[in-house]
Amino acid sequence: MKFFIDTADLDEIRAANDLGVLDGVTTNPSLVAKIVKDPDNFTYRDFKEHIAKICEIVDGPVSAEVTTLTAEEMVAQGEELAEIDENVVVKCPLTLEGLKAMRHLSGNGIRINATLVFSPTQALLAAKAGASFVSPFVGRLDDISTEGMALVEQIVGIYENYRFSTEVLVASIRHPQHVVEAAMIGADVATIPFKVIGQLLKHPLTDSGLRRFMDDAAVMKES
Ligand code: G3P
Repeated sequence: MKFFIDTADLDEIRAANDLGVLDGVTTNPSLVAKIVKDPDNFTYRDFKEHIAKICEIVDGPVSAEVTTLTAEEMVAQGEELAEIDENVVVKCPLTLEGLKAMRHLSGNGIRINATLVFSPTQALLAAKAGASFVSPFVGRLDDISTEGMALVEQIVGIYENYRFSTEVLVASIRHPQHVVEAAMIGADVATIPFKVIGQLLKHPLTDSGLRRFMDDAAVMKES
């Protein structure tokens, strides 16, 4: 299972990358907006430079999202984003226009991450449009009392039936249990917020066990 980090924060990306278990990065306009210090002077060029900096840190797919609504505009923006680095994956929303853009971009060899996916039919369309990744948003479904992980299970099953190569990238992860369930279902990727990556390794019995081992290690004197 691949681990991506779901953030645009360079410090978080560096710290996660240093752990040695990071396979890629996903961003979206909301995550980018969070790291902008001076919103009045942040341009689209700054956004592209920021994506380039992420690509310098992580050797793996880096999702950068289009911010336009028509297929024509998404294609133009997607082509521009893909030029930043060979690791850039263009994120397009699963709308009618987004679907057209995905088909066009993937047909020209640009990798696509189909985002804002909330149903199995949307996931089926993403695969047929040649998306490299499909992003079901589990947390946002949980938020409206619908089991997000049930969608992941459906998508994994459908993709297996037809041997689609589109990778299932579980997004909108809120806690470690989402990662466990995604792994048990066999999802290809989990994109995880920095805080949750930290939570994956914490266990109180590890901490108390280590304290005891360190105390007992005091019996071993320097020779
Ligand atoms: O990758 C998409 C993800 O960032 C959405 O997460 O927590 O805003 O639902 P959230």
